[in-house]
Amino acid sequence: MSSSSEFDDIIDKDVYKYYADGEWKVSASGKFVPIINPSTRQLQYKVQACTQEEVNKALESAKAAQKLWAKVPLWKRAEALHKAAALLKQYKDPIAQCLVKEVAKPAKDAVTEVVRSGDLISYCAEEGVRILSEGKFLVSDSFPGNERNKLCLASKIPLGVVLAIPPFNYPVNLAVSKIAPALIAGNSVVLKPPTQGAVSGLHMVHCFHLAGFPKGLISCITGKGSEIGDFLTMHPGVNCISFTGGDTGIAISKKAGMVPLQMELGGKDACIVLEDADLELVAANIIKGGFSYSGQRCTAIKVVLVMESVADALVEKVVAKVNKLKVGAPEDDCDITAVVSESSAKFIEGLVMDAKEKGATFCQEYKREGNLIWPLLLDHVRPDMRIAWEEPFGPVLPVIRINSVEEGIHHCNASNFALQGCVFTKDINKAMMISDAMETGTVQINSAPARGPDHFPFQGLRDSGIGSQGITNSINMMTKVKTTVINLPSPSYTMG
Ligand code: G3H
Repeated sequence: MSSSSEFDDIIDKDVYKYYADGEWKVSASGKFVPIINPSTRQLQYKVQACTQEEVNKALESAKAAQKLWAKVPLWKRAEALHKAAALLKQYKDPIAQCLVKEVAKPAKDAVTEVVRSGDLISYCAEEGVRILSEGKFLVSDSFPGNERNKLCLASKIPLGVVLAIPPFNYPVNLAVSKIAPALIAGNSVVLKPPTQGAVSGLHMVHCFHLAGFPKGLISCITGKGSEIGDFLTMHPGVNCISFTGGDTGIAISKKAGMVPLQMELGGKDACIVLEDADLELVAANIIKGGFSYSGQRCTAIKVVLVMESVADALVEKVVAKVNKLKVGAPEDDCDITAVVSESSAKFIEGLVMDAKEKGATFCQEYKREGNLIWPLLLDHVRPDMRIAWEEPFGPVLPVIRINSVEEGIHHCNASNFALQGCVFTKDINKAMMISDAMETGTVQINSAPARGPDHFPFQGLRDSGIGSQGITNSINMMTKVKTTVINLPSPSYTMG
């Protein structure tokens, strides 16, 4: 249960309420969804199992609230967002405690996630004020055959109701990265939090409630995907879907219909290491990029492609650092904590065993206790191994030795995923040419992949996503263009 009395309203006995129409509510289903603590594998929290009828009601009030919100002056919308950002930061500790318990996020990273989210909301408010106040003015005589009698005013208007579906690994940050752009642009939001991460999400939503947003403008519907998942994503009352997660996103994109989609569906981010790279820098980035939050980041380094001539030296440096990683409880701020669920742990184990059978070299002994998997570097991985292509979302990292840069680029481009990648070299010309050849949404030169800073464009190609995120792109994505054309009488003129 939450440690702060400020959050007493959001729980009924031991089941967290859902949020709709400006109120915290108990579902008529009388059922709850259990949330299992990944570290203890015991029941940690319970959330309401909402019904389809409750989804309908939330969408109805979202529609009504949006019409009024769109008329609220932009500066006032920004002011409300700043208030929510301040509240989120004020309550960073109780929210972070939920992240520790339900997604096993290391304690310090959990606080960082909440603070980063507050900053994201504030930046979004300011960016929204800047970019939404601008439009376009066109005059017709620049197009052949036209007189100067039509004046076109184009501006950005909201889409309506935005359905926000964040993933378990950033249930606060990747929720506000959808909520804040939607709200500043004049939309309303229905949030469907991930089951694992729902309680952190409900706490975050309470900060928006305390900030005084109008009734119905934001709702948070918890429940079973099997009961309300498709119902929500195919609902005619939804005007935009912003989703981050796994390949469920591909299914959603096929079913969603005529609504704008923003999708981020994971990655197999490659780290290409050239002969001239600073191997100390590479090793430090492989640790940060491959093992932070136990590899459960879509932007984690998920395959190292290193030139054979420096592979032994690099592997030695990485192994030394892997062996120093602290494995244990998120409460103790360990580097490596339990992965989110037993099914994830089993999936990761499957990839590791497949690589073992096919002859990969294990740089550490493979060890797993429950959902806790000790960090493992796998050397001499070959393309016939599943781990060369699949996304473990865990603390296990394959190294493929390459004999040419082209081989590395080919591996990267042959993947279905295309989120980010990185290249390490001291030669900026080579780095730029490799960046150009890597068909991914972003290429980082001499640093591990990362989404932040949160105002940078962030996008995946191929199965890694649809559209571009980052604060500015998200605000723009959650608007449509409206034009008004003023038609004047045809001018009479004479030439020459
Ligand atoms: O897991 C997906 C996130 O978008 C990654 O964000 O690079 O800040 O960890 P991050």
